[in-house]
Amino acid sequence: MRLSSTGAFLRALRDARIKAFPEQSVSQSNEIDPKKTQALSEESQQENNHAQFLASQPQHKIIKDAATSRSGVNILGRPYVFDSTTNVTESILGLVGRKLYDTPNHPIAITRKLIQSVFRPPRFEHHTAADPVVSTNDNFDVLGFPADHPGRSRTDTYYVDSKTVLRTHTSAHQHAAFRGLRHRGDSGYTICADVYRRDSIDRSHFPVFHQMEAACVWKLRPPKEGIHTRLQQQDARAHHIRSNTEGIPRHDLEIIDEAGSYDDQTNPVQIVHDPDEAQLVVENLKRSLENLVQKVFVAAQAAQPDVKHEPLKVRWIEAYFPFTSPSFELEVFWQGDWLELLGCGVTKQEILDNAGLRDHIGWAWGLGIERLAMVLFDIPDIRLFWSQDERFLKQFKQGQITRFKSFSKYPPCYKDISFWVRPSPAAASPIGAQSSSGAAAAAGGDATKASPADTQPAAFHENDIMEIVRDVAGTLAEDVKLVDEFVHPKTGKKSLCYRVNYRSHERTLTNEETNDMHEKVTRKVAELPVEIR
Ligand code: PHE
Repeated sequence: MRLSSTGAFLRALRDARIKAFPEQSVSQSNEIDPKKTQALSEESQQENNHAQFLASQPQHKIIKDAATSRSGVNILGRPYVFDSTTNVTESILGLVGRKLYDTPNHPIAITRKLIQSVFRPPRFEHHTAADPVVSTNDNFDVLGFPADHPGRSRTDTYYVDSKTVLRTHTSAHQHAAFRGLRHRGDSGYTICADVYRRDSIDRSHFPVFHQMEAACVWKLRPPKEGIHTRLQQQDARAHHIRSNTEGIPRHDLEIIDEAGSYDDQTNPVQIVHDPDEAQLVVENLKRSLENLVQKVFVAAQAAQPDVKHEPLKVRWIEAYFPFTSPSFELEVFWQGDWLELLGCGVTKQEILDNAGLRDHIGWAWGLGIERLAMVLFDIPDIRLFWSQDERFLKQFKQGQITRFKSFSKYPPCYKDISFWVRPSPAAASPIGAQSSSGAAAAAGGDATKASPADTQPAAFHENDIMEIVRDVAGTLAEDVKLVDEFVHPKTGKKSLCYRVNYRSHERTLTNEETNDMHEKVTRKVAELPVEIR
């Protein structure tokens, strides 16, 4: 967990790592104490040796030690020893460290800068976090995710080992980032980073994407003339929240507010909060984000002068996140559809308290950058963001929103794969499943999909097919769709047929290479708990 940013923020991160999450440092060879090592059992000694060996290996290659038959990997210079929970693949690790958000003329970086221009210093400090490896504690536990949250499932999340994941959202850095605000009074931050989710394959889903998150806090005013009691200090704080909201530029968006500020039953104010003050925080949050939409979507409209645009319209709806209450989603009406843009809410006080912000109250929001960038630049396929083709990269310039011009369309190549799955409630129909990379699906995880718990490891899950195709074909797979499904009347077994569309943005694929890829996919699918037809 390294964030490139100011010294104070880095120090806070280090503190957080050492004090709050001591278990995080255990697997790192550079922190192994040789004296302790002597007393270790033979097995953990082997593990340490293996970790040291891994640290000297090339990055992101999965290394198997023949002597101990242990596997592991060096991710950005740190060694990780695999265990039975591990499900990261070389193809996913190969995408770690690209820093698209720091590549000035890349649409991801341009979008990030545009968002940052709305949340400006000195109140907001801007951070990025290059290392995506975080503890399950940071990604889930400190944020209040229940033990059975679908986001924790191995079918949805990439585990490096049982205690370590590739972050599924930028909220994994909330605790550390809030600690960095301890000495700053009224303040805030944004953070931008790559996040990882095992998911379906189509034009708007890729297992790595970028999120931007922001938080803002207000501190109790110090006691002074006429302000003595905590209640008076709180009143003074509320006054500042209100006056900050009045300072937000006015906009002319049409607003449909289906959520209000809170709802006692469905979207409550936290017990520790004064409802009036919580409402002021919600109002500040909503006006700030409407201002963001105004800025970003006016730029998107300007980049498409030939299209007739309707007046901009947004909609607020209630949401749920384990780390905010009340919580909301913001949608924008864009080219005939409601586009889910972001999730947000009033930060759970416990999270602020745990980070040393006992006298603070505030909001947080998080959004997926690709989703926004696809609209801004009119980019039709999420894989293009990873393209290193000059015909893509040369089209964009920092500070400018321009429309993407398709450079050519190469032919698709469809291949089917059919198999039987054994009858089990966990293999329920994946058809009609909602996508989980929606801006507001907290940390990923989709309760509507067949999602076997770890106690049912042998059941089939659709994401396992997706992962195999990703691993074999990388960005050469455009989409994978379930095209047929039926239950055999006698045996009760279920047959599923998936259609893989292999297509490159950069060249025509040869028959040979697609056949080759599909053969590999079929061989690997046969290792799942399925029976190839
Ligand atoms: N982390 C959430 C997600 O991944 C988004 C979010 C961030 C929601 C901050 C509320 C506050 O979807």
